[in-house]
Amino acid sequence: MKVAITSVSGQLGSAIAKRAIEEFGKKNVAGTARTPEKVKEPEIAVFKADYNEKDGFLNAFQGIDAVLLVSGMDAPDKRIGQHKNVINAAKEAGVKKIVYTSIIGKKGESTFDAIVNSNRQTEEDIKNSGLNYAIGRNGLYIEPDIEYLDNYVKDGKISNCAGDGKCSYTSRDELAIAYVSLLKNDSLNGKVYNLVGEAITQTELTGYFNKYFDTNLVYESLTPEEYLKVQQKINGEFLGSVIAGIYKKIRNNEFNLESNYEKVVGRKHKTVAELFSDYKNN
Ligand SMILES: NC(=O)c1ccc[n+]([C@@H]2O[C@H](COP(=O)([O-])OP(=O)(O)OC[C@H]3O[C@@H](n4cnc5c(N)ncnc54)[C@H](OP(=O)(O)O)[C@@H]3O)[C@@H](O)[C@H]2O)c1
Repeated sequence: MKVAITSVSGQLGSAIAKRAIEEFGKKNVAGTARTPEKVKEPEIAVFKADYNEKDGFLNAFQGIDAVLLVSGMDAPDKRIGQHKNVINAAKEAGVKKIVYTSIIGKKGESTFDAIVNSNRQTEEDIKNSGLNYAIGRNGLYIEPDIEYLDNYVKDGKISNCAGDGKCSYTSRDELAIAYVSLLKNDSLNGKVYNLVGEAITQTELTGYFNKYFDTNLVYESLTPEEYLKVQQKINGEFLGSVIAGIYKKIRNNEFNLESNYEKVVGRKHKTVAELFSDYKNN
């Protein structure tokens, strides 16, 4: 079976490509990248392809059985058309199946909701494409949070508006294992899967930082209005409202979901303790 993974210059795309090589063999895995020169590993054939144009993907998908579409990073309204370019290229090139990395969360009206809404539209476009498909909805990656450690230490606290809401975290590597399974196993076709691990509060998350990184952090709960102001001061109006929107969703328990990970992978998702331990040891 020959597969193509998009955005292999990014962290999720490259993690999936590495796992795909283990499963399908190097010669059966191709990658696409907007910036191929950024791809240092894995050492696979990498085709230049920008989500804004179909042609690069049409070229990359010749002879490919299944495509893994990593969701783009552009403004939400632009992403829908970009993803359609990949879906249409897959159809035209005779690809049989498409697997898409979507996101958890309810549709809504906020700045962050616009990202969720655009992912749901691509899910619909895939379902209507006539291709076989499988869709994963990714939980929040734990890695960017852990990479923020120095800032937390500087402040002596983790401060946001999640309150007592629970969030189901995952990691890029856990996702990569699930996506290779979705590419490979046609018995999983035609469904949408929540690819998330266990749900924890921010107080519990703070405890994991203290345990694994020997810190003395405390959790500070802000109101959504207070946190929006803090975030917009640090990250500007757009990104600030996206980040504050994520924590508001956690507060509302929208990211506290039943996981379908075991159904996809055949074992339970790693615990948050294991994710922290893996991060520390890698
Ligand atoms: N679940 C979560 O917690 C979470 C967090 C952040 C993002 N996400 C979503 O998950 C996706 C993958 O995350 P990641 O960790 O791999 O992010 P990442 O490391 O920042 O990689 C983003 C990738 O998107 C590519 N890209 C952006 N615009 C493109 C375009 N017009 N055409 C082709 N490729 C384009 C980038 O290509 P270049 O190398 O050329 O820039 C890069 O390969 C993101 O794109 C986003 O949709 C999820």
